[in-house]
Amino acid sequence: MGINGEFFSAIIPAAGSGDRLGQSIPKSLVVINGKTLIQRAVESILPHVDEVIIAAPKDFELEISGLFSDNKKIKVISGGEVRSKSVAAALSQVNQNADYILVHDAARCFATQAQTIRVIDALLAGDHAVVPGIEVVDTIKVIDANNFAESTPSRSSLRAVQTPQGFSARILHRAHQSGNDATDDAALVEALGIAVRVVPGEPNAHKITTPADLEWAKRLAETNE
Ligand code: C5P
Repeated sequence: MGINGEFFSAIIPAAGSGDRLGQSIPKSLVVINGKTLIQRAVESILPHVDEVIIAAPKDFELEISGLFSDNKKIKVISGGEVRSKSVAAALSQVNQNADYILVHDAARCFATQAQTIRVIDALLAGDHAVVPGIEVVDTIKVIDANNFAESTPSRSSLRAVQTPQGFSARILHRAHQSGNDATDDAALVEALGIAVRVVPGEPNAHKITTPADLEWAKRLAETNE
């Protein structure tokens, strides 16, 4: 048992392709300053949880298992075609005694352990769903199908949300029962009418998606490590 006698599981969806990054290998296996994205993402979570389930890209399960062969807390399974399916596949393997489940994108490989702890602390304080978020600098428009602006939400009410996102285990299971697809797990929880707490995020927990993000990540690692 982990923190406060509660059992914490973590799911890491890592089954995305490297296409948008301009890479021929899956994104989670791209190396930044000597370490893969998946190894970095695991490091920010592992000390704080009792188990980690990684959803690996098809045909790369063994390669990813090999990176963690000395750690019994880590299990690797096959991911799905979209992120929500990868999370759902991992969710089916989570220990049934889990009290809380964190979901963390492999692509946010510079999120710190402090970010994980902020999410866990909010769960232990009584929230059932917690996401880190940062203020947005751009003005965001809602557009219609013809690319005309429909509305402009007030910037002060917007947050760009990140991972790890944390949930009471029974709520995340319920949220995924719908089988719906969403770009984050909190959206599925919101659809159940459950309150989602936003705690402070970190600029460096940015999702690595484009070649420019990869350049940024390399510079960051070389400067700080
Ligand atoms: O595609 P995107 O970068 O938004 O994905 C966010 C996270 O979801 C990444 O860590 C990626 O590896 C993961 N993912 C997944 N299964 C998919 C697509 C994305 O696990 N089919």
